[in-house]
Parts: sequence; structure tokens; C-alpha cells
Amino acid sequence: MSNLNSTDERGSWGSRVGFLLAAAGSAIGLGNVWKFPYLCGEYGGAVFIFTYIAILVLVGFTIMLTELILGRHSHQGPVGAYRAIKKRWSWVGIIGILASYLILTYYSVIGGWIIKYIVSAFTGNFNTTDIDALGNIFTTFIGKPFEPLIYHAIFITLTLGIVMGGIQGGIEKASKMMMPALFIILFVVVIRAVTLPGASAGLEYMLKPDWSKFGIKVIIAALVQVFFSLSLGMGVIITYGSYLDKNEKLTTSSVQIPLMDSAAALLSAFAVLPAVFALGYNPSAGPGLLFITLPGVFAKMPMGSLFGSMFFIFVLFAALSSSISLLEAAVTYCVDEHGWKRKNATIVLAAVAFLIGVPSSLANGPLFSEITFINGMNFFDSISFLAENLLLPLSAFMLSIFVGWVWGTDKALKEATNNGTVKFGLAGMWAFSIKYLAPIGIGFILIQNIIALF
Ligand code: PFF
Ligand code: NA
Repeated sequence: MSNLNSTDERGSWGSRVGFLLAAAGSAIGLGNVWKFPYLCGEYGGAVFIFTYIAILVLVGFTIMLTELILGRHSHQGPVGAYRAIKKRWSWVGIIGILASYLILTYYSVIGGWIIKYIVSAFTGNFNTTDIDALGNIFTTFIGKPFEPLIYHAIFITLTLGIVMGGIQGGIEKASKMMMPALFIILFVVVIRAVTLPGASAGLEYMLKPDWSKFGIKVIIAALVQVFFSLSLGMGVIITYGSYLDKNEKLTTSSVQIPLMDSAAALLSAFAVLPAVFALGYNPSAGPGLLFITLPGVFAKMPMGSLFGSMFFIFVLFAALSSSISLLEAAVTYCVDEHGWKRKNATIVLAAVAFLIGVPSSLANGPLFSEITFINGMNFFDSISFLAENLLLPLSAFMLSIFVGWVWGTDKALKEATNNGTVKFGLAGMWAFSIKYLAPIGIGFILIQNIIALF
């Protein structure tokens, strides 16, 4: 693997499969396991799923391919990728990195909760099926000042440990181990869930659309979810693409990664919702579905402690393979732009992310939940609104304008097809999407989210 800008400090992927698993690992995370099932539960099951798939096909693939193109074109992280084409645009790269770095700060707080739940499942602590009691256990835990911080520290240390190993020796190696295990565990839990007596009500909910539930809110939720779930708009896929060599077929990868991500999201929903129905819980429990409802599901299920611990280990793998990509985007930036050593960059950035995560963790407790920042939201919600609802769509919007109108689709397609040697039948559709569909759709959502501030 050779490219002009590559230095020892930079590195590259060792194999095609390694890259694919790492990129799928970035995509598959809490967004699939935690958010997707509860969004399905909130927005009418099948209606949400169909809307999600439509947006995925219309803009998700497009942006995925575009970010890979941009990263591989320059073999540099997001800032250098823009700068290599048009100097004045490099700030757009910074927006994306800022978004992913901010996400890392609270993603790892939630990652810490997952570790706590693995411990709880193993020690047989999910022995009640009473929702109020389970809700209490959860809110008491996340509201404590110190205990969640210890788990937050453990999670970020695991992330740091992997990223420190570099692209091939750290991220690729960890992904090759975690991703197959993740899919195996997920399959086992899905089979358990859909064979529970009474699971069919949940299956029907997920497969039969009730279009009266459809509306603008569903579209907004689905679009934000497509971007979050595919790790788009945050410089992460640009970064991973920058470690690819010139022979890689970007067009193929840009289909395979979203397919794996969607499979994981759907399987997670099939693991969660049928069980929730079968055991008589409310599917629209929102964010609490994973931490409150599911432990109840496992408590009621035969061999629930085993399936419960397996499930939360699966969630941990998913969360870790995403958090390493969030940290890597910032590390690549410091290595490429400021010439830092990878090790130093990793340690400093992980430590600072831990510190910024502290107020997010505390915001779930009684002492700090009243302190508000953006629009009456506590620290945790403010940071996530800033990153996911403002910076993410802003950077994705600018990306589509940049490639569609400034750089030009012809030049981008040259990179996508390895100078015309790879056949790309959907080139016309991609160009239409990046020039029109993506900026209009994303711009609309961005405006909605800005309006929501006032
Ligand atoms: N895609 C991840 C998920 O679905 O959980 C989260 C994520 C990872 C978002 C990396 C953004 C990112 F840059
Ligand atoms: Na995802």
C-alpha cells in the first residue's frame, strides 16, 4: 500500500475486509441497537422503517460514496481533503471533526452504562419485571455522581487502547474480532426473541405499515437517523477513506457498508420489539427501551440472564467499534494537520473527551440536571443537539454543495471509478442526488433544527 502522503505515522488498512469491517463497525453502534428500535417504537414501526429505507436509498448511499471519494482522493483527513481541492473550504472539515469529537464525549458516557449493565446481567441483578422498579434502578444509577464516571473512564480507556494501536494494528484488528462476534450474538438473541410465545404482534407491528402515523416528524427523525447511523457528516468516513489505496472499489464499499448497517438495525429491532410485545411492555418507551424495558424482558425470559449478558456484550462491541472511529477522526486531524505523534494525540484527545463528558454524565443527576444551556436543555442534551442536529447537517450540507457544485461531479466520479476503470451504472443517479436531493433534503432539516432553537 503506497501513497504520496503516507508516512509511518499515518498508516493504512491491511486488507479490504479489514477496512469494510472497520467502516461497518463505525456505522453499527448505539444508533442501531439503542436508537433504531426505540425510534421504530415511537414512530409507528413499519412506517418509520419504510421512510428510513427510502431516505437511505435516496441520500444515504450518495453521501457515503461522496465521503469515501473525498477521503481517498487526498489521503488526508477531512481538513486536508477539502484543502487539497479548494483551500478556502478546509473549515468544513473542522465542523465535521468537531461534531464527531463532541459525540464521542457523551457516546462514551452511554458506553459506560452498557458496561455497568453487562456487570448487572452477569451478577443476576435483572430479577424484577416491574417497569417502575427497573426505571428506578436505571435513573438512580445514571444520577449518581461518581459510579457512572468510573464506567465512563473504563469505556474511554478501552477506546484509547484500540486507537493507540493505529489503523492496522488497532482499529482493523479490533474490528475483525468484534464484528463477527457481534453478528453471531445478535442472531442468537433474535432467534430467542422471535420464538417467544406472543412475538408475532411485534413482528406485525414492524412489518405492517399504518400510514396514518406518517408525517413530517417521521421524515425528520428518519433523516437524522440515517446520517447518525451511517456515521455521515462527521468526517469519520472521510477519515477511514483516506487510509484506502487507489485500487479499492469505492462504489462497492458504499453499498456494502450501508447494507451491513441496515441489517444490524433491523436485526436489533427484531431482537427488541417482538420480545417487548411478547412480554407485554410498551414499545414506545423511548430511550429507556434498552436500559429499562429490556432488562425486564430478560428477567421474564427463560435463561434470561445468559441472553441478557450476551445482548449487552453485543451492544458493547457495537459501541466500541463506533467510538474508536469517533476518536480516530480527531487523532487523524492532529497527526495530519499538526504533526503530532499518534500516541500523544490519542492520549490527549481521549483525556479531554473524558473531561468534557463529565458534565454530560452529571447532567443526569439531581444536582446538575437543572443547569441548562441551549434552549432549556441540560448539558448532555445541549451537546448532543449541537453535534447531531446542527453541526452534522451543516457539514453534510456543505459537503454536498462542495462536491456537487464547487469541485464538480465529473472530477468526483473520476475518483469514484478509479479513473474510469470501474463501471458505475448509478453515476447519473448519484450526481443528481448529490447536486439536488441531498442539499435540499439536508438543508430543509437544518433549517427545521435551527427554527427549533427559537
Ligand atoms: N454510527 C454510529 C451509531 O450508529 O451508533 C454512531 C456514530 C459513529 C456516529 C461515528 C457518528 C460517527 F462519526
Ligand atoms: Na449505525
